[in-house]
Amino acid sequence: MGHPREVYVCPPEHVALEYSINPWMDTSAPFSRELALSQWQTLIESYQDVMGSEQVKICTPREGLTEVCFFGDSVFLCEDKALFGEFRHPERAPERAYVQEFLEGEGFASRNVPPGVFFEGAGETVMWRDKILFGFGKRSDEVVRHFLRQTFGKDTIDLELETDDFYHLDTAFLPLGDDLIAYYPGAFGPIDNATIESFDCEKIVVSEEDAKAFACNAILWDKVLFGSRGVALWDDLRRRGFEVREFEISEFLKLGGGIKCLTLQHYGV
Ligand code: ARG
Repeated sequence: MGHPREVYVCPPEHVALEYSINPWMDTSAPFSRELALSQWQTLIESYQDVMGSEQVKICTPREGLTEVCFFGDSVFLCEDKALFGEFRHPERAPERAYVQEFLEGEGFASRNVPPGVFFEGAGETVMWRDKILFGFGKRSDEVVRHFLRQTFGKDTIDLELETDDFYHLDTAFLPLGDDLIAYYPGAFGPIDNATIESFDCEKIVVSEEDAKAFACNAILWDKVLFGSRGVALWDDLRRRGFEVREFEISEFLKLGGGIKCLTLQHYGV
């Protein structure tokens, strides 16, 4: 499992906590766009440092799209192909066309799931080995697995999300290499937990506390892991030889998002 070819990000210039579509979003909580921007900037500078500036593609934000900073939630990208979905909640629906226009301009061959089917893109898709792990149940429809298989010619492992707190697969599952994964069992039911336990690799069980700090919502680039601050798991990963860089992401957590949500990865071969 190598690192992705590049990442796409979008500055939170118009970010706001205006609606509540997941249990993390308390619209009465104080929210600072300025702080969000500076937290995002610190993360991106670290990406540029580790990945190289060429690998970090920045999309221009658009007014009114308050959560387009979670740039991958409408699309999965792999090997120059893009599968676009539709958002479950109408509040975020207008983002898809904007992201699609941008990525088509970048040269991706794009396809859309059929009308009436929900799919929240990179939030629900995690590459592990040569497979696509696909989360469904809260935001995405199970049927999308067929479109993922057809579009990318890869097998999927389909995992149903069972709780409102961990509504996207990338909030509960973190691949750390071909032989190592981390996951939060509380997000899944007994059958899917048994499926994950049967994977022939080492598995780290993420605690509820770490899961709530969005530990699984991290980005890995070779042996460098970009993760949220204050997660107990990071010490374990450092002992295993990872370089963990920690970031304060308080404003994004108030939206129910973390570092992985801010970062659309283009997986390559
Ligand atoms: N407030 C956003 C939503 O509920 C957060 C999205 C987080 N994205 C992710 N990939 N987990 O849709």
